[in-house]
Amino acid sequence: MAEPTFLWFLHQPTSVGWLKRELAAKRPELRFAFARPGLTTFKVDRAGDLAGDPDAAPGSSFARAWGRSLGRATTAEEILALLEPLTSTPIRLHVFERDPDRPADERDAAIVGTRPAALETELRAAAPGRFLDGTAAVAGELVLDVITAPSELPDDGLLVGWHRHDRTHGPWPGGVTHVPIPAAAPSRAWAKIEEAIRWSALEPRPGERAVELGSAPGGASFALLERGLEVHGVDPGAMAPAVIAYAGPHGNKFIHHAMPAAEVDRRAVPRPIHWLASDVNLAPMVALRYVERFVALARGTLRGAFITLKINDEGIFEALPRLQSRVERLGAREVRYTQLPSHRSEIVAMLVW
Ligand SMILES: C[S@@+](CC[C@H](N)C(=O)[O-])C[C@H]1O[C@@H](n2cnc3c(N)ncnc32)[C@H](O)[C@@H]1O
Repeated sequence: MAEPTFLWFLHQPTSVGWLKRELAAKRPELRFAFARPGLTTFKVDRAGDLAGDPDAAPGSSFARAWGRSLGRATTAEEILALLEPLTSTPIRLHVFERDPDRPADERDAAIVGTRPAALETELRAAAPGRFLDGTAAVAGELVLDVITAPSELPDDGLLVGWHRHDRTHGPWPGGVTHVPIPAAAPSRAWAKIEEAIRWSALEPRPGERAVELGSAPGGASFALLERGLEVHGVDPGAMAPAVIAYAGPHGNKFIHHAMPAAEVDRRAVPRPIHWLASDVNLAPMVALRYVERFVALARGTLRGAFITLKINDEGIFEALPRLQSRVERLGAREVRYTQLPSHRSEIVAMLVW
């Protein structure tokens, strides 16, 4: 009889209930196995059909990273022993910590990441040549995933797993790690867009144009300006002076449409619009109406979109399948979802045209 396969999912500790319920609906072949805060594992019930495929897309909008489990370990030697039967060729190494039950931007930056960093150094020293240099995974590569407790909490052992990298995964350890917010950024939304860009491996380029719905005070717009884009921000709220006065090395600047998204005249936003970001603090049923309007206004010129969906309550969670059908009808060729380290009660949809 074949060995049972176990899958692991990395997620925010507070999202575990929603993760499990989404998986129960979308991947009924998964049977809950064990959990730590921020990490949940399932046994795959291979009841003979494709649904039992352990490499099927994750099936939860709350999973930031996922893969197959090799087992638990406590030392570098035990990790290397678990890796042994998987492959003898150099493999990509991702060592990362679970999220503690507190917002990413409130963690002590001097401690975050120290436990996985020390373990990675130990692993590389113990097995020279066993791991590829560098961190970002490339399509098709095998990745060894080693998951630790949060650095500020007691060590409670390691989960060792692996995945084959493709676009259902973020390329960085744990999909993506929190990107610390620079002092110049007007809001924590700077980290939300930067993490979404890193997780999705989408790259807004200098000279391109972005529209952001719900842009005030301007963290995300500031990130896009710093990447060299012209940014049209739509928000009746006040933008930070650093955004309003921004003059980039690429001649790029910010244009404020100080009104609700429904009131922006279609002639006020020039085309092409390469990127659309939406971060309005409205129920997603309403926010998506504006997103739909601006996708139509872009008239086929969009390259990608980052759409924040606020999941503030049970009713919105229940509506998620219908909301996601609406996102899918926006006409992108690829739609992915995740909950980023800096998210609170929200997820992001990342679209590619
Ligand atoms: C979470 S904040 C946005 C943060 C922003 N993305 C940043 O980077 O700093 C939500 C924003 O949505 C705006 N908003 C709410 N309803 C809106 C609407 N109908 N049209 C445009 N903006 C709206 C609010 O004024 C608020 O500034």
